[in-house]
Amino acid sequence: EETPMELGGEQGRWEEERLKTASLSFGAKREREQGMRREQERYQLILEEEEMIEFVSTAMTMKGTRTEEEQEALALSQAELKKQSMQEVRRSLPIFPYREDLLAAINQHQILVIEGETGSGKTTQIPQYLLEDGYTKGGMKIGCTQPRRVAAMSVASRVAQEMSVKLGNEVGYSIRFEDCTSERTVLKYMTDGMLLREFLTEPDLASYSVVIIDEAHERTLHTDILFGLIKDIARFRSDLKVLVASATLDTERFSCFFDDAPVFRIPGRRFPVDIFYTKAPEADYLEACVVSVLQIHVTQPTGDVLVFLTGQEEIETCCELLQERCRRLGSKIAELLVLPIYANLPSDMQAKIFNPTPPGARKVVVATNIAETSLTIDGIIYVIDPGFCKQKSYNARTGMESLIVTPCSRASANQRAGRAGRVAAGKCFRLYTAWAFKHEMEETTVPEIQRTNLGNVVLLLKSLGINDLIHFDFMDPPPHETLVLALEQLYALGALNHLGELTKLGRRMAELPVDPMLSKMVLASEQYKCSEEVLTIAAMLSVNNSIFYRPKDKVVHADNARMNFVVPGGDHLVLLNVYTQGVTAGYFYHTARLNKGGYKTVKHQQTVYVHPNSSLFEEQPRWLIYHELVFTTKEFMRQVIEIDSGWLLEVAPHYYKSKELEDSSSKKMPRKQGKAKEELGQ
Ligand code: CDP
Ligand code: MG
Repeated sequence: EETPMELGGEQGRWEEERLKTASLSFGAKREREQGMRREQERYQLILEEEEMIEFVSTAMTMKGTRTEEEQEALALSQAELKKQSMQEVRRSLPIFPYREDLLAAINQHQILVIEGETGSGKTTQIPQYLLEDGYTKGGMKIGCTQPRRVAAMSVASRVAQEMSVKLGNEVGYSIRFEDCTSERTVLKYMTDGMLLREFLTEPDLASYSVVIIDEAHERTLHTDILFGLIKDIARFRSDLKVLVASATLDTERFSCFFDDAPVFRIPGRRFPVDIFYTKAPEADYLEACVVSVLQIHVTQPTGDVLVFLTGQEEIETCCELLQERCRRLGSKIAELLVLPIYANLPSDMQAKIFNPTPPGARKVVVATNIAETSLTIDGIIYVIDPGFCKQKSYNARTGMESLIVTPCSRASANQRAGRAGRVAAGKCFRLYTAWAFKHEMEETTVPEIQRTNLGNVVLLLKSLGINDLIHFDFMDPPPHETLVLALEQLYALGALNHLGELTKLGRRMAELPVDPMLSKMVLASEQYKCSEEVLTIAAMLSVNNSIFYRPKDKVVHADNARMNFVVPGGDHLVLLNVYTQGVTAGYFYHTARLNKGGYKTVKHQQTVYVHPNSSLFEEQPRWLIYHELVFTTKEFMRQVIEIDSGWLLEVAPHYYKSKELEDSSSKKMPRKQGKAKEELGQ
């Protein structure tokens, strides 16, 4: 039933084919294009100053399963839905007709793969069906994992509403550093990372009757590790039900990994989505987004817009630009509600995107790929897809982690387009050419396990008693050298002994849900009697983004405010105005020395730079420890602190040789230092 978006080879040929197809089978298409042109002219009159984006339609829909009358009827019924009670809404979801079949299949099979279009009701309904069917008898729990914190929170809150219970009672969620569950909780939504940590306290997940690995297609690092662990415990816990839920992607692979587990398919209810491409590549996709939103706003019938951008900063810029231009246009255009959504957005702001759009207005939600499959926003008819996402990659040879904006995969692009067809026939405007879609995008996204640092996960697996990591049952194994580097790093930190076995320290480190270096730092602070300060630093470093808020319109102001916090010594101190060499005990692995204007990492001899935001940017001390190494425009060290190279020998004599640290005495430490220095007699 899927219409493949088969396009010709090169751009030229494709154009030709498009015309041919148009004259052969899409009589209505030319009319539609003329209509589009008229709309564009109207638009140009209103927005003279903007440069128009010329879109061409492939006249191919992602799925064309409805007649026009059916579409209208369904669109109407969708409007009706808003007025219905929660219970009626539950019964209207695509999954509902399959309730009995699904429960029968779960009863019959221990492991079941469940495939269904986003928004069909997998996440919110399946746990409730299981509860209604008695799976929580005797206080047993149903666990459901989500790759994203926001999704775990918002879905749990929705389900609590549907069941008319208080969030945290029967229905709760658990994410890192926030546990909203209680003794009474039987439906537990959590991030995949949290379930992974539960293996530490309950290695057979004995309190769970069902575990749902949701959003499996996302293939996050933690989800991938869960696959291996759960497959293993399912062998001896025959009463445990395992459900692997995924959008319509890759399900055969999951089935194959779980020894040919059956796949339960929930037939989609998706309206056709017309795909439009730009005629030529767009140089500035942010600007193109803004123009396209306005273009839709003034030319297209009612319906909300969803824009996919790569991160908070882009989203904020886009929202500001949109608001600014709407202000300029004033009453010439209808009201446009601009709403951002990204992981770090405060939760009251997040909830706003679910509010219904007032009549006459149009809502535009500017989102990260959180809205690709994890969150469903009703009422979206138009999707704008610049075709990019922010992706992590990891180079094990240099220890460099990069977070760069890269083209998203075709699978992602198709998921995004699908978001336009949930409530009625929709349109997806891709800000790239049809040629780029076919030739420049990868088919699917590389699983995270193959492009990230594994230190954390390796420590966890080791503490679960899994010693042979090379032969762990990975769905897609990580690169060999990444595994080796992780092991080497854990050895350096003293978490593993020279046989690769977990040490006492390693066991304690694994208990803290933070990166190994950070947990070593926290544990070592005990010895240096500075736990309080170090804990604060650790907490500050665990905040995803910089704690220094730097709004676009107040950059100078924000930078001045930051300067007021600066104390000599480094960023960690600035974070807190504290100083201690316990920082060194955990992060000695991340050392860099001054070298010809830049820095070189001690272990990998990689050239790196101090980030211009750092308080040490101008000072350029001889020896530094950095919190992380990130490639953005350059190889930057983020959060750096000055150290005395002698300390390295003290905290990691097994790791550093004094020869490596020669020439360290040529620069005097500027301030009076603590115990270690005196002991070392420097
Ligand atoms: O998991 P799946 O994508 O299959 O669907 P779901 O998350 O269970 O969502 C089912 C329906 O619940 C959506 O179509 C929304 O209408 C509704 N929902 C909502 O209104 N608010 C939420 N926070 C989550 C879901
Ligand atoms: Mg879901």
